[in-house]
Amino acid sequence: MAHAFGKVILLGEHSVVYGHPALGAAIDRGVTATACVEPGPVERSSLRIEPWGRGVLAQDATGGSRDEGDRLPEAWRALVHMLLASNKALDQSVHVQARVDLPPRSGLGCSAALGVALVRAIDEAFGQVRDDVRIADASLTWERVFHGQPSGVDSMLAACGGVLLYKKGQPPAHVRLGARLPLVVAATGEHSDTREMVDSVRELRQREEARVTGVFAAIESIVLRGRSAVERAELRELGQLMTMNQMLLSSLLLSTPRIEEICAVAQQAGALGAKLTGAGGGGCVVALGSNEAAACAVRDAIQARGYDAFVTTILPAEPAT
Ligand code: PMV
Repeated sequence: MAHAFGKVILLGEHSVVYGHPALGAAIDRGVTATACVEPGPVERSSLRIEPWGRGVLAQDATGGSRDEGDRLPEAWRALVHMLLASNKALDQSVHVQARVDLPPRSGLGCSAALGVALVRAIDEAFGQVRDDVRIADASLTWERVFHGQPSGVDSMLAACGGVLLYKKGQPPAHVRLGARLPLVVAATGEHSDTREMVDSVRELRQREEARVTGVFAAIESIVLRGRSAVERAELRELGQLMTMNQMLLSSLLLSTPRIEEICAVAQQAGALGAKLTGAGGGGCVVALGSNEAAACAVRDAIQARGYDAFVTTILPAEPAT
């Protein structure tokens, strides 16, 4: 059974698209998948996604749709063609059953986790072995159909797990946690389209280049400081950096009234910091608790305002034995 992680970006979304570093953490929700191969043309390859009840055939790809859901056949076709060609198996078809435990279009890396789980499942069916970084790279064939030019941070976290400092085009650096990170993830209930939000930042950068370049530079120093705070177990400092990052993301017009409301409720309920996570314009908020009990109190306060929220704790890696 192949598995891939969902993720939260703790610091550095959007600027990561322009080559700045981002700090992200894999969460304990993700995607699982199994694959089988049988004789038949590659175009008959099928993908079933539960609990969405969605069936996709490679031959149904039409291309060019703007809606993310409609791009599934195109992404599936691109991925199976690439993987079966590399296995010299274009006269075969592959059939994958995937199970998703992440809300789509919410900034939790659902499409990237699906892409990574599919590559892993198909690799398993062909007895192909590649390391996590190469799995993430291969899954970008899928992710590009949805997001144009993704930075790759979601796919890398989906494949590698843990906490990563990621810079586009470079191998990720694993960050050693000094302490558990008790996070609250809250859904605004508004769908967010990553491609649209990335396009909106690109347009803003064209109009206000000096200002946006300055915002990205400020985010980079927050990310680097955040990495050090995570390693030193300075949760209070990490929380402050998250809140500063939220202000900078807001100045890029990525926040919404619901994101602002959830951040404010989280802070009033004792969160050390809160920000949007992922593309923004809706999607999810991530807040940091000082410990698990505090995170549960933050979750309860957000739920009392009618939003879905859950606690997910990022754990330090087990020492290698
Ligand atoms: O909302 P998500 O999970 O698709 O996160 C996207 C993160 C961005 O930095 C906005 C885009 C990217 O390619 O890194």
